Amino acid sequence: MPGLAHRLVEPEILDGLCEADPLAVAARRDLVRVNALMFQQTIMTRLLADRVRPPHRILEIGAGDGVFMLGVARRLAKRWPGVDLTLLDRADLVTPERRAAFGKLGWRVEAVAADVFDWLSVAGAARFDAVAANLFLHHFADADLARLFLALRPLTPVFVAAEPRRSGFALTASRLLWAAGAGAVTRHDAPASVRAGFRGLELSALWPAERDRLEERAAGLFTHVFAATRAVSEGA
Ligand SMILES: C[S@@+](CC[C@H](N)C(=O)[O-])C[C@H]1O[C@@H](n2cnc3c(N)ncnc32)[C@H](O)[C@@H]1O
Repeated sequence: MPGLAHRLVEPEILDGLCEADPLAVAARRDLVRVNALMFQQTIMTRLLADRVRPPHRILEIGAGDGVFMLGVARRLAKRWPGVDLTLLDRADLVTPERRAAFGKLGWRVEAVAADVFDWLSVAGAARFDAVAANLFLHHFADADLARLFLALRPLTPVFVAAEPRRSGFALTASRLLWAAGAGAVTRHDAPASVRAGFRGLELSALWPAERDRLEERAAGLFTHVFAATRAVSEGA
């Protein structure tokens, strides 16, 4: 068993399952519970609310089925009405019911089913007030993250991410998820996510512009957050 000093990025089982596979459906249900146990929606709400003025356009990359961002939207919608939200994920998972739930909050949703790198290569003039990632960046090796950040930076003045913290405590907790009813896929993917997670200033080191305001730290018990705000002199 390798230690936690360095990231270990391994394939996650969920990423290899087709969307309708019962194992994938169960794993996405587990993910809702994992996000709740990690307080990810509260953490993401704060990351956004503390850095972004009432925005018009938000992009979430690796958005999954949209359940995560719906919880964030419920916390923000009174302060931030009428947001245009783009949910991007390789899998096509956003149901009409979920769209309607965003609609009830006054948020309009566009779901994009694409690989994030493919989409960024054709994103062209797309602009967002903020881009968010939740439990997503850890899927990628450092070189790919550097490529991702370079492509994202021109699209937005604010990028925020809430990822697994690579700590012994988080690893132990991830191995106990069976007790919370997690299925086989999650019992594999959760510890793998922790080993691929982050600590210290690892994400800051990959961000392409040192003059941007970078914040990176632990949040809650299991989470590592990163926020990059574009240098004011460059404008929004
Ligand atoms: C752990 S899930 C997190 C989903 C969501 N953010 C949440 O918290 O519920 C990671 C998501 O990233 C997506 N994903 C992985 N690699 C991707 C890629 N290269 N491009 C787009 N989406 C990707 C997967 O399909 C999956 O839905």
